[in-house]
Amino acid sequence: MILIAAVDKSWAIGKGGKLLVKIPRDQQLFLEETLGKTVIMGRKTFLDLPGQQPLYGRRNLVLSRDPDFSPKGVTVCRSIEEVLEKLSGIPGDEIFVCGGEGVYRDFLPYADKAELTKIDYRYDGDRFFPNLDEDPDWKLTQESEEETYFDLPFSFCRYERVRGGVR
Ligand SMILES: NC(=O)c1ccc[n+]([C@@H]2O[C@H](COP(=O)([O-])OP(=O)(O)OC[C@H]3O[C@@H](n4cnc5c(N)ncnc54)[C@H](OP(=O)(O)O)[C@@H]3O)[C@@H](O)[C@H]2O)c1
Repeated sequence: MILIAAVDKSWAIGKGGKLLVKIPRDQQLFLEETLGKTVIMGRKTFLDLPGQQPLYGRRNLVLSRDPDFSPKGVTVCRSIEEVLEKLSGIPGDEIFVCGGEGVYRDFLPYADKAELTKIDYRYDGDRFFPNLDEDPDWKLTQESEEETYFDLPFSFCRYERVRGGVR
């Protein structure tokens, strides 16, 4: 299972229910990586998608405990266990965890890779990704050259689990 996110210097991912910034290269790579695969997200992340529509060309699993939440084109799951049941038989490299904060945290033990766009700027975020630099179970294994979006520097980083985790 792969966690995928864009994080700032403080590992922030969002504020007020919105992304911190939309970087076209990041969004393009997100599309390329996830197309044809299964994506998992929380209800609030789903509500922040353009038009509150499922991500096209992907199987969308959305977590919510709200019995009235049943948007078209997504599979609503009421618990982590229900998500794990739905994932049975799907190869781990075809499953992407797309946020938000609690969903990343809850699936961290099941993940063996994280594809992160690291933005070299500190926003005033209110949602965060787990700090993998402080987690001895994870190691930074790849980092791209720095790119810029206007004057905003960012790079693509891969972290891999080096120990622990639930298989
Ligand atoms: N930078 C990035 O890459 C990135 C990626 C994703 C999201 N974000 C940002 O993160 C923010 C949204 O994330 P968030 O942390 O506020 O919310 P979220 O994780 O997207 O959604 C939280 C909701 O998901 C449901 N949920 C979560 N865990 C569950 C569980 N174990 N069982 C059943 N339902 C569960 C609950 O819905 P109910 O209340 O309906 O029960 C909960 O209120 C936004 O600012 C968004 O833009 C950023």
